[in-house]
Amino acid sequence: MSAPRTMRAAVVPRGGGPEVLKIADLPTPRVDPGHVLVRVEAAALNFRDTKLRRLPPPDASFPIVSGSDFAGEVAAVGPGVGGWRVGDRVVGAAPNGACAQYVAVHDRMVMPVAGELVSTLAATVPVSGLTASFALSSARVHAGDTVVVHAAAGGLGCYVGGLLAARGARSIGLTSTADKASVARAAGYDEVVVYRTTDPVTMVLELTDGRGASVVIDSVAGPQFARSFAMLANEGTVVLCGRSGGEPDLTMVTAELIDARRNRSLRELYLLTHIVDHLDDVPGRIAELAGLLATGAIRVPVECYPLDAIGEAHTALEQGRTVGKLVVEPWR
Ligand SMILES: NC(=O)c1ccc[n+]([C@@H]2O[C@H](COP(=O)([O-])OP(=O)(O)OC[C@H]3O[C@@H](n4cnc5c(N)ncnc54)[C@H](OP(=O)(O)O)[C@@H]3O)[C@@H](O)[C@H]2O)c1
Repeated sequence: MSAPRTMRAAVVPRGGGPEVLKIADLPTPRVDPGHVLVRVEAAALNFRDTKLRRLPPPDASFPIVSGSDFAGEVAAVGPGVGGWRVGDRVVGAAPNGACAQYVAVHDRMVMPVAGELVSTLAATVPVSGLTASFALSSARVHAGDTVVVHAAAGGLGCYVGGLLAARGARSIGLTSTADKASVARAAGYDEVVVYRTTDPVTMVLELTDGRGASVVIDSVAGPQFARSFAMLANEGTVVLCGRSGGEPDLTMVTAELIDARRNRSLRELYLLTHIVDHLDDVPGRIAELAGLLATGAIRVPVECYPLDAIGEAHTALEQGRTVGKLVVEPWR
């Protein structure tokens, strides 16, 4: 069945709080050469969506259709596209546009996904799943390493916890509340520290007999960023892969990194630019993640929202109230 001429989409008409998000009828995107049109069954929310909504880039053309990663079915194939057929089940990512009934993307930006994985879970793979997978590779995590993960009950945190268990590494998750700690344990963490009631640096050092962790995956950063180095072993690596707590305070980091004589490193991971140099790796990683989700080795709780409630979902994510991933279903 061909796509209708118009579709419902969650749009950002100008920068601002969650209240600026509106549901609008827009023309269904055109399918340019080399592109496919996907009927979106589910779109995952990411922290980046809230940042783009608050502070759109100066050259943004409004309205921006929110959302980047999605799962759905190929609805149309543009000229010059080989390998995709209408009806193929895919996951994919776009710079924007996923929180809509249809999204058009370059054919290289979609991947096949196994039929048994429900769309609401599959939609979370391209951004959170791949970021988790690349974060562990970029820090060269091996079996037996001890890895500390901030925001362990969050979307990225649950993926990292499952992958660490699958890789045979020891994991210590940090989170804010006892309820979130239960989610992190269910996601596969060996130990969980509730940082609001227990000092995480002291606890990590205690759990590692004073050595510290070989890797710290930090997606929170903010004013406490230097703590990630305080819990890091000699030769260890901090992977900075997000800023949900704000920009990292770097004032202590120079002393921790350069003057401490402990041979530690700081690695940045930004998926959108990292992936450009690792495109050949992506299908294998997506297949691994989908397989681990299907067997329950990766456990990511998913909370689903209809398109009309996307403002509520943005608010919850920004306020740090969520666990796992939030997903929007544009046809619900
Ligand atoms: N590098 C990349 O390319 C890439 C890709 C995907 C995601 N990310 C980043 O990874 C981070 C996690 O993304 P996610 O979508 O999975 O979100 P998330 O981890 O599910 O949610 C953020 C969590 O961060 C913690 N947090 C600490 N301070 C916070 C604050 N001031 N405001 C809000 N949350 C705060 C909260 O967990 P606690 O209550 O447990 O502290 C909160 O639940 C984000 O920073 C995102 O930008 C980066």
